[in-house]
Amino acid sequence: MGSVLIFDSGVGGLSVYLEISTILPQQPVIYAFDNAAFPYGELDDEVLVERVCNMICAICKEYDVAVVVIACNTASTLVLPVLRELISVPVVGVVPAIKSAARLSKTKKIGLLATPATIKREYTRQLIGDFASDCDVKMRSSTALVEMGEAKLRGRPINKELLNEILRPFKDEVDSLVLGCTHFPLLKSEIVEILGEGCAVIDSGKAIANRVDSLLLESSQKKEQAHLPQHYVLSSAPVHEEEALNKELIQLGLSLIQRTPFF
Ligand code: DGL
Repeated sequence: MGSVLIFDSGVGGLSVYLEISTILPQQPVIYAFDNAAFPYGELDDEVLVERVCNMICAICKEYDVAVVVIACNTASTLVLPVLRELISVPVVGVVPAIKSAARLSKTKKIGLLATPATIKREYTRQLIGDFASDCDVKMRSSTALVEMGEAKLRGRPINKELLNEILRPFKDEVDSLVLGCTHFPLLKSEIVEILGEGCAVIDSGKAIANRVDSLLLESSQKKEQAHLPQHYVLSSAPVHEEEALNKELIQLGLSLIQRTPFF
């Protein structure tokens, strides 16, 4: 029975993994991350397309993959059409939830927090044009916040002062904030604490999990047996020495950690 391949540059995709494994606890998962090229938000477009396509194609050749989830806004807003030409497995992309934020907003002032690459993508402009043309959209890019998500998962303390500074343009200015990077939901409780009750903090994780569920049902690949599946972790740079990260991955049920030979 096919696995769900969840792909990101780092640990951000784990925010999507958590949603998927909540509604599909029996489905085997491969969590692959390109930590050798992290952060993607600072990478050239051509390099990003080539890396993501090469890695995903190689993993799909080696493993039985039922659905690919690019759990990375920075990659999804660029590589989806290219990748879909290369593989026959369905590909689900994670892109900023602009539509949900615009629908939810009463003040029609919404925020988008994402990586530098996602903020400048044509895809993002198009999303705003299509679904939030009636909104004032405040945008901010931050690689520091991506790094903060990585640090939190390794048990390191959060720099609240820096987080406050990153969120300043949104505080009391917008009533919905889109977390347009999968690393950011890892910091959701800290973000909500700073922005307060008056601002809805939105990400795409649950919607992605539901989409994966329906694709697995459609292709009769949804696993229902009552035993725990094996989840693999593949990384492009070694993570064996990173004790805190390994501990966290194991706690999340991702126990078979390997350096992939494909990257
Ligand atoms: N987690 C990724 C995203 O959703 C990429 C972060 C990065 O590597 O810059 O955009």
